[in-house]
Amino acid sequence: MKKPIKKPIRKAIIPAAGLGTRFLPFTKAIPKEMLPLVDTPTIQYIIKEAVDSGISEILIITNSNKSAMENHFDHSYELEEKLKEAGKEEELKQIKDIADMATIYYARQKENLGLGHAVYCARTFVEEEPFAVLLPDNMIECEHCGTGLQQLIDTYESVHTSVVGVQQMSKELLPRYGVVDLGNSWRQEETIHMLNGIVEKPQPGTEPGDYGIFGRYILTPEIFDVLEEMVIRQKTEGEKEIHLTKALVELMTTQMIYAKVMNGKRYDIGDKMGFLKANLEFAMRRPDMREELAAFMQELLDRNS
Ligand code: UTP
Repeated sequence: MKKPIKKPIRKAIIPAAGLGTRFLPFTKAIPKEMLPLVDTPTIQYIIKEAVDSGISEILIITNSNKSAMENHFDHSYELEEKLKEAGKEEELKQIKDIADMATIYYARQKENLGLGHAVYCARTFVEEEPFAVLLPDNMIECEHCGTGLQQLIDTYESVHTSVVGVQQMSKELLPRYGVVDLGNSWRQEETIHMLNGIVEKPQPGTEPGDYGIFGRYILTPEIFDVLEEMVIRQKTEGEKEIHLTKALVELMTTQMIYAKVMNGKRYDIGDKMGFLKANLEFAMRRPDMREELAAFMQELLDRNS
C-alpha cells in the first residue's frame, strides 16, 4: 500500500451540477441548492460549514442552470444601495456578509455524467493536495462535536489518507446510498474504521452493512488518476454515469481508505420529505417563529385528526 503525502486540507469541492430529479418540478429552472431552510439557501449553510472547518478555497461544480447560486454569493450593488438609502443596516450587513463569506470559484460540468465525473472536473483546481468534498443536499449538525466536515478533517489528521463520512441508517434508506463494509477500527478508536468495500445503492438484502456514506469526504489527489481512467473508459464504452463510489473501490486497491462514523443529526434536503422536516425543525429553533408555528401545527393536526 502506498502512503499518501501529508498535507493540510485547504480546498473543498461542492458538486452541484446534478439535475435534482427528486425535486421536480421545482428544479426545472431553479437549482435545488437554492431551496431555503426558512430564509437561507442550503448552499449557504454548506459554504459556512466549509469556512468554519478552516477551508480557504471552494470550488462549486455547476451547470448552465445554476446561475442563481453564483448571483447569491456575488455583490448586489443595486440592492445594497437601496437598503443603505432605506437605513436598513441589519439587512445590508447580512447581504454584504454573504458576498464576503469565502473565496468561491466555479467550474462547469458540461454533461451530467455523475458525481465521479463532477469531482473529476475539479482536477486542475485541486492539483496535488488532499481535499474535501461536500454534497450540498446533505447536512449534518452536532452541537458539541464541530461541523460535519471538521470531524472528517480531524480524522484525516490522524490517518493521513482518504476518509468518507458514514452514519448508521435504517433498512429503508440504505438503497439510496453508498453502503460500506466496515473493517477493523483504527487504533481502538471506535468511530474510525478501515474500509473493506462499498456497494452503491444496494438492492434490499444485499447490503454489506447498515452504514451509508453521507455526503462528506476527504480525498487524496490519487483519486484523479482513477477517475481519469474511468472517464476514458466512459468515452469508449458509453457508460451513463461515473460513480465516485466505484472510483473509491478502485483507489482502495492501492491506498487505505477509512470511514468515520459521524456524530450529529443529518438532514437529506434533496428529498421532499427530508426538506420539509428540516424546514420545520429549523423554524422551530427560531425564537421569532417557534410559538406561532407550534400553534399552527397543533391546529393543523386537530383539523386533520
Ligand atoms: P444525486 O445522486 O443526489 O443527484 O447527486 P441529483 O441530480 O443531485 O438529485 P436527484 O437524485 O436527481 O434528485 C449527488 C450530488 O452529486 C452532484 C449533485 O449535484 C449532488 O450534489 N452531481 C450529480 C453532480 O454534480 N453532477 C452529476 O452529474 C451528478
